[in-house]
Amino acid sequence: MTNEHNNQNEEKEKIRRPIVTVAGHVDHGKTSLLDKMRGTSVASGEAGGITQKISFTLMPREKIIENCPAFAGKNDVLLEIPGFLFIDTPGHAAFTNLRKRGGGLADLAILVVDINEGIKPQTAEVIQLFKTNKTPFIIALNKVDNVSGWRKQNDDMKKNIESQAQHTKIAFEEKLYTFMASLSSHGLESELYYNLSDFTKKVALVPISAKTGEGITGLLMMLCGLSQKFLKGNLKLGNRPKGIILEIKKEKTLQYAETILYDGLIKANDEIAIANFSLGKPIISRIRTLEEIQPLSNKYKPVKEAQASTGLRMQLIEKADVVPGMPFLIYENNLEEISKEFNKELTEIITTDAEGIILKAESLGSLEAALTLLRQANVKILKTGIGSINKGDVISARANLEGENPENSVILGFNSYLDPEAKETLPVNVKVISGEVIYRLIDELIKWQEERRSEMLKEKLLELSSIAKVEILHKYVFRNSNPAIFGVKILGGKIKPNIKLIDEKGQEVGRIKGIQEGKETIKEAKEGMEIAISVSGQNYERHIKTLRYLYADMGPKQYRQLKENKEILTDGEKRVLQEISVIKNF
Ligand code: GTP
Ligand code: MG
Repeated sequence: MTNEHNNQNEEKEKIRRPIVTVAGHVDHGKTSLLDKMRGTSVASGEAGGITQKISFTLMPREKIIENCPAFAGKNDVLLEIPGFLFIDTPGHAAFTNLRKRGGGLADLAILVVDINEGIKPQTAEVIQLFKTNKTPFIIALNKVDNVSGWRKQNDDMKKNIESQAQHTKIAFEEKLYTFMASLSSHGLESELYYNLSDFTKKVALVPISAKTGEGITGLLMMLCGLSQKFLKGNLKLGNRPKGIILEIKKEKTLQYAETILYDGLIKANDEIAIANFSLGKPIISRIRTLEEIQPLSNKYKPVKEAQASTGLRMQLIEKADVVPGMPFLIYENNLEEISKEFNKELTEIITTDAEGIILKAESLGSLEAALTLLRQANVKILKTGIGSINKGDVISARANLEGENPENSVILGFNSYLDPEAKETLPVNVKVISGEVIYRLIDELIKWQEERRSEMLKEKLLELSSIAKVEILHKYVFRNSNPAIFGVKILGGKIKPNIKLIDEKGQEVGRIKGIQEGKETIKEAKEGMEIAISVSGQNYERHIKTLRYLYADMGPKQYRQLKENKEILTDGEKRVLQEISVIKNF
């Protein structure tokens, strides 16, 4: 063999496994699909059948060949990739921790969709993130065995579908076309994989059953094809070990890190540098033990070295707090260089706007995903952080109350919730919105901010005045004069102390001094409430006894401004404003 040949062979060996993320809505069958491919039963052993954290499946080349007859025998030279590293993600937090410079960590992805349920919130979220990160993906239309009347007929999916009973075929097609239409409304054109020729224009749909195993061969073939066609340039194994910390578990004197190595070769006893969110110095630690995920298993085994892409568990000597989602690199006494590299990478995520809301997430990966989607929705972000919502976040949000945009006094928690301690210090006008689906959080945020903005505009327009109509409750007169105190029912709008009241003819009646509900003094009373008001400079017997309704007085300028901004008023307020315009002849 010539030298050239030798080099070529070496080059060939230096291809890393493509990382394939398996994502999708809760319960659509991600873990079951990986189980079927591995020949294990993880899904049924999970608490509540729900995946709690990210896990790996290493599929070696031999297993792919075993699964895909087309690659068997002589043809096995066709398969140039050394296998796949699949990553199972929990459906309740689509993308936790999965990040890498320039976008998602995945080289490829499988979006698992229950064909009987179609696109769900998490499916939409994942599609959006795949698009933003430009992750090539295929869609596994899972649970075809649940389509009414389905029987496995053939190993070839096309023939399998064609040989189903007529009504089953129709039921399948109906579901398929409905799904394709809703994908199209998300801006994606799709086609059944065996009819698809241009994979750059349409998304491939692969009908499968993670229960019976039907279609999985097709799915693997697609992944191999796509990897070899579109990824080869990206799959060259580099010299520098690089990875991401996924989980961290502290024990007495050391900590265990579950990590993905996505480039290079790492050795037990190597030193690694882990990025630090506070942009301080990276955390340097020696690896005490290195364990690698075993092929087709969810168990780890100690190894001397491991090559990307793979799943690793490392025992770290350093105890300093490591944040999940952080990148790591091999450390070779090059602290300055590494610090620069990390800072460059993290600055993009940490750089925020001059004003805006506070954003918290459970890990770096989910923070990045939330940032991406919030920026797409034009939401400004003042401060970001990882972990639960703490006192410091409440203080930052409270400071926004004093700023130009008090509607930014919001803390958004993506899988991040309010500390009990912080709860005690939470001011009324600071809003905390926490949850697991970014889209819902964004919707809730935008709705709250709109409400807050119109409330504030209303407050400004009304200043010391108000829109209000009350009915006098003549049965409840508590005092005749100095001041007169009597009961009223608010028919529309709201009243506050200091408001000037007029009667139905527009005659001045007096100013509200105070409002009482039962025995309590209150600052404001809204539509529907029955309360007592005190009115100064007035005598009930002489002036009020014969009246039925009272209104809050209003000047012509205020009326015009309110009329121009009618959309901020409630229906009750609109009605009252109309009546006032008649009384005052505006
Ligand atoms: P999370 O991890 O909670 O997001 O769910 P998952 O997407 O990993 O779903 P999982 O694999 O745990 O499956 C959810 C349920 O659907 C389980 O009861 C599975 O047995 C069932 N299931 C998964 N795939 C199939 C399938 O192809 N056919 C049928 N009939 N049931 C399936
Ligand atoms: Mg799962």
